[in-house]
Amino acid sequence: MTRQNCVHFQFLPMGMRTLYTATLLVLGTGYLFAMIYIFESHAGRDGDPMLSVNDLIIAYSGSKSDTKLESALKGPMKNMLPPEEQHEIIAWVRRGAKKEDFDQTAGKIIAARCETCHGGTNPHIPNLKGYSNVAQAAQLDTGMDIFTLVRVSHIHLFGITFIFFIVGSIFCHAYIKPLWLKCVILTLPFLSILADIGSWYLTKLFPPFAWVVMISGGLMGMAFALMWFVSIWQMWFYKMPPELVQNDGVVS
Ligand code: HEC
Repeated sequence: MTRQNCVHFQFLPMGMRTLYTATLLVLGTGYLFAMIYIFESHAGRDGDPMLSVNDLIIAYSGSKSDTKLESALKGPMKNMLPPEEQHEIIAWVRRGAKKEDFDQTAGKIIAARCETCHGGTNPHIPNLKGYSNVAQAAQLDTGMDIFTLVRVSHIHLFGITFIFFIVGSIFCHAYIKPLWLKCVILTLPFLSILADIGSWYLTKLFPPFAWVVMISGGLMGMAFALMWFVSIWQMWFYKMPPELVQNDGVVS
């Protein structure tokens, strides 16, 4: 067995440490952007601007009180129009989403503010061109459809595995005692992503599963942060304990 694969960071060549650091910096930045994206796309759906379990329930299983159009207008599409116009569209929905007053109110705003993106050319987002399409979005919200969930699931399963394989391979060079703790930290993100994605579907059947979505996302973030900081710290700032130096830097 070569010992090269399992030595502590400080026994690695400078080139590898530089490569690891650069990789962690870019992945860490990517993680921050992912958090901003999650916040922007889910927070506020329930009317409260913070991200909550209720926002996740609405995103995955739908809102019992709002239509899809309303929860989008309160959440991810909030910045696409000024508040007066948002209220005008919601008022139209609440009056029964009728055809008679569509053109003078909601229709006019949606044509001006939304059709550049929702004109029907992008198959992944709802078409809002014309009364019949808008009326469909103004029906009771049943959450993200299964096809969208399947599409997002496979992207996440592949993407997250890559990220945590890379971060985990770097973290393997850290000196962590006891060994079981290191193994738990390494496997936690993989278990979390399975629990997270499984719960997207289960939330449709039983809304409290949104808690599992929230908690597994949190655990994944914690594991990422832990591996990131411990790796950077042990790579550049750590003073190795004597037993590790005597052992030629071999970590288990
Ligand atoms: C700059 C492009 C853009 C504009 C302008 C825009 N949207 Fe969207 N909209 C999107 C994208 C992209 C998505 C899908 C992203 C997502 O699901 O988070 C989306 C999703 C939606 C959804 C579905 C949300 C869901 O939960 O499935 C609705 C409803 C919606 N938009 C309504 C509107 C309305 C109403 C307006 C105008 C006030 C508007 N959008 C303006 C890009 C846009």
